[in-house]
Amino acid sequence: MADKVILAYSGGLDTSVAIKWLSEEYGLDVIAVTIDVGNERDFSSIRQKALDVGALKALVIDAKELFVTYFVFPALQADAIYEGQYPLATALSRPLMAKLLVDTARDEKATTVAHGCTGKGNDQVRFEVGISALAPDLKVIAPAREWGMNREQTISYAQRHGITVPVTVSSPYSVDECLWGRSNECGVLEDPWVEPPPDAYTWTKSPAEAPDEPAYLDIGFDKGIPVSIDGEKIDGVSLIYRLNELAGRHGVGRIDHIENRLVGIKSREIYEAPAATVLLQAHQALEAMTLSKEQLRFKQKVAMEYADLIYNGLWFTSLHQDLAAYVRSSQRCVTGTVRLKLFKGNCTVVGRKSPFSLYDYGLATYDKGDQFDQTASAGFIHIWGLPVRTQTRVQLLGQDEGPLSITAPQKQEED
Ligand code: ARG
Repeated sequence: MADKVILAYSGGLDTSVAIKWLSEEYGLDVIAVTIDVGNERDFSSIRQKALDVGALKALVIDAKELFVTYFVFPALQADAIYEGQYPLATALSRPLMAKLLVDTARDEKATTVAHGCTGKGNDQVRFEVGISALAPDLKVIAPAREWGMNREQTISYAQRHGITVPVTVSSPYSVDECLWGRSNECGVLEDPWVEPPPDAYTWTKSPAEAPDEPAYLDIGFDKGIPVSIDGEKIDGVSLIYRLNELAGRHGVGRIDHIENRLVGIKSREIYEAPAATVLLQAHQALEAMTLSKEQLRFKQKVAMEYADLIYNGLWFTSLHQDLAAYVRSSQRCVTGTVRLKLFKGNCTVVGRKSPFSLYDYGLATYDKGDQFDQTASAGFIHIWGLPVRTQTRVQLLGQDEGPLSITAPQKQEED
């Protein structure tokens, strides 16, 4: 009996060809696994296609809830955004896929796992670092990195082996989708000066074509997890679907980014992430109200580390465990409601409230009822300015250069 390989199968050209190629080149029996992280596909025909191409077995795993609970919402609580732009959709899905591939390999007593990534991207790193962390004994094969076929050769390989070439092959783009967002690369997008053509976007309306009336919505959070829309309780998966649709309709969530890949390449990425855009903004607004200044500042550093770690394929690490513990702890009081306005591509926070709000009207108001002791400010300023006065006296006054040395231009005498 041949050894078995678990192949992460998308139904696209490369992974379909990989089914044939793995059995021809390596003599392996292929078990195709398609993981549903909210990428809205026709999973029964994908399954059938794997069998038609020659897979021994084809499995579809609904991982939407796992994805949201263990990956998306912790990343939201962390405010994880790579390089200030990318809410990490694709990157977040890979460690979950690695875990499910390994679990399936164990169930099926397979010796090997395979994925369809090329040798130029981040996803190969995320899959392989994840798989080897969870199961160091499993072999990994990356057919598309090994076979040395270009696009045309892959298509003719498919045709020679009676594999139907999907119509999406005519699309110039390379797309990856999950609940948290859609990633789009290749084709004309590779010219960073070219504005993405309308067909680069499928989840979001062009802001110009978005409704002329704004939409308002209230999102309720419990300890940093979104739990309701407009006061109505809703599960995480449905909430994200709802927001992708609603915010996408208003043109919210388009991102055009030159990104630093782990393998050293800069690449131009087009993302659509309507739900992620809305939720990250709402979550940050609620944190601004419920966390102290120092908590917020420290958390920003954690957010950057957390985003990098996800992007760089280091999900299964102790550093992650430690950062996640901090993030979870930081969310104790991030409970409340945020009101947002969606209009022509913009998402704006227009209201927020929380039982743990640190915003104190009595302290903030300039109207009657002001409880802030303004006379105490003089003493505060005296102490606060003390080191500044000391330094200027000793080091800065009289210097030609430095923050004190600005000289006003000579005034012309008028005659
Ligand atoms: N650049 C993004 C990342 O590394 C998205 C990659 C998406 N993959 C794709 N085949 N389009 O997470």
